[in-house]
Amino acid sequence: MSRRQFLLPESEIPTRWYNILADMKEPPPPPLNPATREPIGPEALAPIFPMALIQQEVSSERWIDIPEEVQEVYRIWRPTPLYRATRLEKALDTPAKIYYKHEGTNPSGSHKPNTAIAQAYYNKKEGTKRLATETGAGQWGSALAMACMMFDVECTVYMVRVSFDQKPYRKSLMQVYGAEVYASPSEHTAFGRSVLAKDPDCPGSLGIAISEAIEDAASKDDVKYSLGSVLNHVLLHQTVIGEEVRKQMEMAGDYPDIIIGCCGGGSNFAGFAFPFMRDKLTGEKPNTRFIGVEPSSCPTLTKGRYEYDHGDTAGMTPLMKMYTLGADFVPPSIHAGGLRYHAMSPIISALYDQGFMEAQSVGQKEIFKAAITFSHNEGIIPAPESSHAVWCAIEEAKKCKESGEAKVIAFNLSGHGLLDLSAYDSYLSGRME
Ligand SMILES: Cc1ncc(COP(=O)(O)O)c(C=O)c1O
Repeated sequence: MSRRQFLLPESEIPTRWYNILADMKEPPPPPLNPATREPIGPEALAPIFPMALIQQEVSSERWIDIPEEVQEVYRIWRPTPLYRATRLEKALDTPAKIYYKHEGTNPSGSHKPNTAIAQAYYNKKEGTKRLATETGAGQWGSALAMACMMFDVECTVYMVRVSFDQKPYRKSLMQVYGAEVYASPSEHTAFGRSVLAKDPDCPGSLGIAISEAIEDAASKDDVKYSLGSVLNHVLLHQTVIGEEVRKQMEMAGDYPDIIIGCCGGGSNFAGFAFPFMRDKLTGEKPNTRFIGVEPSSCPTLTKGRYEYDHGDTAGMTPLMKMYTLGADFVPPSIHAGGLRYHAMSPIISALYDQGFMEAQSVGQKEIFKAAITFSHNEGIIPAPESSHAVWCAIEEAKKCKESGEAKVIAFNLSGHGLLDLSAYDSYLSGRME
């Protein structure tokens, strides 16, 4: 009988984050000042981020200690379980072994608190009174709302309008945690008002919501901005996921041949994959395949250009070298709101450009079909974002059936979909486009 659960004791929660920049021979090119096109110094970020996070953003130290106060909150839900999807393997009749890490077991339901807790902590320590942020599907907003509540920091969330309308209970969750929530584009900022003036029915995008949150933060001294993906320090905090998985795969006696994660701005993929990518970068495991999966309606890696672009629509952020569809790209209103971002993290963009990883894109009906196959066998209902990874794992397992290869496939189940049931309704009723 195959073992299904690989659970670590509390004492095995990582005490350090892994910084992949230390192992990249060609790190991403530096961010630029849009006016001068010269590299920006850390001081340019000081109006919107606390110094500790700015230092992490530019650090090339391989390991960064996790403060005890952050570890103390991680202990509410970490370590998270790694499962072997034995029932799914059987249903697919595949010789492949499929493992998944379940990051949806915490109170807010996704991987996002791994960085939200750290960001709220450092902000509190440096005297921030309120944090402003954007959210797509609401997973990031609810994670930051929870983190702010724990460290007694106020929280304002600009939630992309299409998700605000599709996912009212995510908004309620954030409000329960004490956050104030605006549908973006909103009347609350000058940029939001300018977008609404041109298009009163604008569904919003992460790029627009980021501009609103930055405008809110930059105009006040005791308000800072917090980003849930893309930036180096966010990816860094997420590596607790993959560091745990390394130990759990050891318990299972396997090492993954294929590592899969969905990609919005890249943080759950990075957190899951980078601790294994380390072995590829150092040449120890040169053949591991890494696959980032994105929606075909927002195909940043698969169809974007690798060039300097803004991280937001209003052009308030520095220019970063990223795969991008253009900062003014407004993706269609798909249900995987957390994947509707026009660009990709600079680190992931560089790794993709250098051939260390692959990317695939897939349409939304296919991901819901895969999610339902998964839930029929494993019970868990995945978030629409995570379902992109589920789809890819199933496709790779089917290829193993054809080739007869018993590959080890590992994917990150970045969140549960229990507050995304309206999306499942739309799929099941045949209304989904
Ligand atoms: C469950 C889930 N997975 C994935 C993502 C995508 O973000 P990232 O690429 O930073 O992991 C989101 C974003 O909101 C999310 O909520």
